[in-house]
Amino acid sequence: MITPEILAAHERFVISTYGRFPLAFVRGRGARLWDAEGREYLDFAAGIGVGSLGHAHPALVEAIARQAATLLHVSNLYHTESQARVAERVAAQLGGGRCFFANSGAEANEALYKLARKFGHATGRYEILTAVNSFHGRTLAGISATGQDKIKKGFEPMVEGFRHVPFHDLAAVETAVSDKTVAILFEGVQGESGIHPATADDLLGLRDLCNRRGLLLMLDAVQDGMFRTGRFQSWQRLLEGSRDPRAAAFLPDALSMAKGIAGGVPMGLAWARAPYDALLGPGSHGSTFGGAPLACAAALAVFDTIEREGLADHARRMGERLLAGLRALASPRVAAVRGLGLMIGVELKKDIPALTSEGKLPSALFVAKLHALGLLAVPAGAQTIRFLPPLNVTADECDEAIATLARALAAL
Ligand SMILES: Cc1ncc(COP(=O)(O)O)c(C=O)c1O
Repeated sequence: MITPEILAAHERFVISTYGRFPLAFVRGRGARLWDAEGREYLDFAAGIGVGSLGHAHPALVEAIARQAATLLHVSNLYHTESQARVAERVAAQLGGGRCFFANSGAEANEALYKLARKFGHATGRYEILTAVNSFHGRTLAGISATGQDKIKKGFEPMVEGFRHVPFHDLAAVETAVSDKTVAILFEGVQGESGIHPATADDLLGLRDLCNRRGLLLMLDAVQDGMFRTGRFQSWQRLLEGSRDPRAAAFLPDALSMAKGIAGGVPMGLAWARAPYDALLGPGSHGSTFGGAPLACAAALAVFDTIEREGLADHARRMGERLLAGLRALASPRVAAVRGLGLMIGVELKKDIPALTSEGKLPSALFVAKLHALGLLAVPAGAQTIRFLPPLNVTADECDEAIATLARALAAL
């Protein structure tokens, strides 16, 4: 099928929940994608931060093929070595704790909501505070947790027990804590709303507040986890260099991951440290597909490859190169360049005439212009475009993306 036929078939048979770009991809390799007409693109979207190793990495292909030919699925009625091994790898990174396996970020967060509810149940506490402009997924609880009105619209009433607090205002968070509050859920780097990193003071202050008020501190690491920022978790990066003695001991009570963990095979997980890892006992939660052998084999291959190829440090270096290159453009069209590791946002100035069109966000209009130049990026909020390239992106590819962005900005 050629692209217009694929688009028409989508229109006819797929419910249009997405504002999709008119592109149809058929093949990928590394940070390159090819569409149905054979046109090549540099993929700095990576499936919205999913493709940690890029497309068709031989180690991931081999692990998936081998596992598919050995044991695809058995359900969570039984044990599998690969599920235990992925949880062991997470525990090794975080100094202990245990995992529950799901299939997506929204589902991983569901496990956190249920964990928090169990934690507060005996004392009648159930309320979770999340940040304004946060994003936590598209399930009903996910949109209730998400601090963006546009995502909730038309689906009210929301699930009870979520309130939104400012992202960088600890005093306001403290004031918002009620006798019903049981947990705080924050992203280390807000992704969907435009790449906004928390500060070291935010994280340490939230940890302190949770300790004082008996709340769980939970982090949504769906987008910023799995070495995307140059460390396993973004807080490790955000607290680097902090002279505050509390920084070295910082640990959330629970976190969620998904996206990049299995490099493109669906996997989500919720992790909790002891004693909170014992809150969800037998019969309290479950998933048919969660932690299936195929996804776990993929996740193990991703962990192994990141380690073997030194991709955490590489992501840090490439992120610094991208940030420096993008900032050096000093374009009058750019309001700010922000980011951490390979999670980078370029915020466009408001009211650029070429990016003004009824019903369309400037970020989406600009991303479409990048597509025309062969570069894939992701809109984030109304004004920001996001680069989330694979962790093994090369220096040349980073330079190419910067040059393409420069051309697109110059043409505005
Ligand atoms: C921080 C965060 N949490 C949760 C989600 C939802 O993940 P999923 O789409 O896999 O359900 C996303 C997706 O973009 C995310 O960025």
